[in-house]
Amino acid sequence: MSLTNKAAWLRAPKAVPLEVGPAPMPTPEGTEIVIEVRAVAINPVDPAIQFMGILLQPSDYPFILGFDMAGTVLSVGPNHTHYKPGDRVTSIALALLHKNPKFGAFQHYAVADGPLMAKIPDSMSFNEGSVLGLGLATASYSLFSKDALALDLPKPGGNKLNGKLLLVWGGASSVGACGIQIAKAAGYTIAATASARNFGLLREIGAEYVFDYSSKGVVEDIVAALSGKGVEMAGVFSAIVAPSVLLQCAAISGRLGGRKHVGTVLAPGMPLPGDWPEGVEYSISLPALIATNEVGKAVGGWLEGALADGSMKCRPNFEVVGKGLEEIQGAFGVLSKGVSAKKLVVEIP
Ligand SMILES: NC(=O)c1ccc[n+]([C@@H]2O[C@H](COP(=O)([O-])OP(=O)(O)OC[C@H]3O[C@@H](n4cnc5c(N)ncnc54)[C@H](OP(=O)(O)O)[C@@H]3O)[C@@H](O)[C@H]2O)c1
Repeated sequence: MSLTNKAAWLRAPKAVPLEVGPAPMPTPEGTEIVIEVRAVAINPVDPAIQFMGILLQPSDYPFILGFDMAGTVLSVGPNHTHYKPGDRVTSIALALLHKNPKFGAFQHYAVADGPLMAKIPDSMSFNEGSVLGLGLATASYSLFSKDALALDLPKPGGNKLNGKLLLVWGGASSVGACGIQIAKAAGYTIAATASARNFGLLREIGAEYVFDYSSKGVVEDIVAALSGKGVEMAGVFSAIVAPSVLLQCAAISGRLGGRKHVGTVLAPGMPLPGDWPEGVEYSISLPALIATNEVGKAVGGWLEGALADGSMKCRPNFEVVGKGLEEIQGAFGVLSKGVSAKKLVVEIP
């Protein structure tokens, strides 16, 4: 029986709702693999592209969104050597990078190619495994790229503690929770901020020092707590783009010793707050570049073992908000109300 594909199409700029309909059944070329998608997770950029019409040119439509997916390998291209049909995998979906809808996650059969992909353990559900894609790529770029925080890369099995400390602001977000875990695996001691209700999550994924970002005087508290700890500051990673947060991160970075650099998740063209302090560097995040650079290869090479031995956890925890491509639009609505330490997932039956 020949298989047929279906997708949640974004037919035109700002078109609402996504329209579920037939899509070409992909055949893997070169090193590509085709994944039978079983769960997708929603990122803030998905509804942003739909509602604001950003990041795509008119000629890119109709398009298939979706950056995070987990499923089963259906087939592999003639030059692919790592996965085989039947493997259960998690992967980032790179339709935006390739400007090609066959790579979008929001379809039954999606094409994946590139390093940020890993087998998931048998004990892990597709829902759980689907949450990593864009959050992991974004944090990886900001932490490890030479033109960002340029931290040491994680190696299979994890690195020894290197005596350096990274502050992660927004540790309960998808990007922040990945950032904490990959920096910890790379040997850094972690301090992180979140709402107090999420301190348990921060500690579970490896933060040694935790701070409530909403407490009055949080900047002073962090500077006081991290000064004189006998560790060198490796920088600050802000997983939150709010200007007030970026200024808090810059103030802390400027006052603690070590590397005065704030790795941000600002995308190209997003402005830095006007009163940025002198002497503190910053960088933006370009997660799509992970697909082709040495950072992606290193993180991808570490990821599978880390998922297998439990040192990388799929956090924040998933919450299923729908079943079927038809329910992705509703999931965008749920996300727009805001989430706390949660990744919204739609099961694809
Ligand atoms: N540059 C890029 O290409 C790129 C790629 C991906 C994401 N991003 C951006 O990265 C950001 C994070 O994305 P995400 O998917 O990780 O978001 P998310 O999971 O939806 O973020 C929700 C979390 O943000 C935390 N938060 C909100 N305000 C905070 C503050 N003032 N201080 C500390 N934490 C705060 C909340 O923590 P509590 O629940 O503890 O309050 C909540 O758990 C978004 O702005 C997104 O647009 C950029």
